[in-house]
Amino acid sequence: MRIIRAKDYDDMSRIAANIIAAQITLKPDSVLGLATGGTPVGTYKELIKKYNEGVLDFSEVRSVNLDEYKGLPKENAQSYDYFMKVNLFNHVNIKEENCYIPNGMAEDDDAECHRYDEILERFPRDLQLLGLGLNGHIGFNEPNDHFSKGTNLIQLTQSTIEANSRFFDSYEAIPKYAFTMGIKSIMQARKILLCVSGKHKAPILRDLIHGPITPQVPASILQLHNDVIIVADEDALSLM
Ligand code: GLP
Repeated sequence: MRIIRAKDYDDMSRIAANIIAAQITLKPDSVLGLATGGTPVGTYKELIKKYNEGVLDFSEVRSVNLDEYKGLPKENAQSYDYFMKVNLFNHVNIKEENCYIPNGMAEDDDAECHRYDEILERFPRDLQLLGLGLNGHIGFNEPNDHFSKGTNLIQLTQSTIEANSRFFDSYEAIPKYAFTMGIKSIMQARKILLCVSGKHKAPILRDLIHGPITPQVPASILQLHNDVIIVADEDALSLM
């Protein structure tokens, strides 16, 4: 694990964007595993800046997103599909047909998981971007008694529902289930880039790096990956 210490959120975002930009420059047809949440928004802004400056070309890039809420149509402003368009895809020259994300409105959950696993198999990820849930979840893989393998439908924990409540008007409107790439699939990415910002993430980041490898802290499995870069700001690293 390489840990890069950033000053603050903006610094973390610049460093993460530079790493992703280097990946795209070295391999223009890179497959990127992309993430949502507040953490990568600044990184996406920096990537858009680089695209506008003419130093980045997304025309051959593919993206495979980590997760999607069950029951939210693409047009819903809180769906991750919508998030990706607003925060990145609409602002760069990535092709729509090269962007993959689970379908939150799928009628058959198992068939949807299977469909997504086939996409993951067809397009092995060169780089997987991750944020970190307060309870150690990655994607939407919540603490559990085992590490998940392929794409699965997850019942969100109370802690995650509360963390996500800031984006919804009422408790009822917050989805309680989500499709997520499995832990095994996340670990199959060649390179993993985990971004962490803020004092509230300091305890879980410490557990991830120094604690036991346990499905109760799903991100702790990253200790076993041979190419993980953690870009964390000083607040997130304050307990280390
Ligand atoms: C959600 C997403 C995760 C993300 C996490 C942390 O649960 N499914 O991919 O990493 O939130 O979010 P934030 O970056 O807003 O702290």
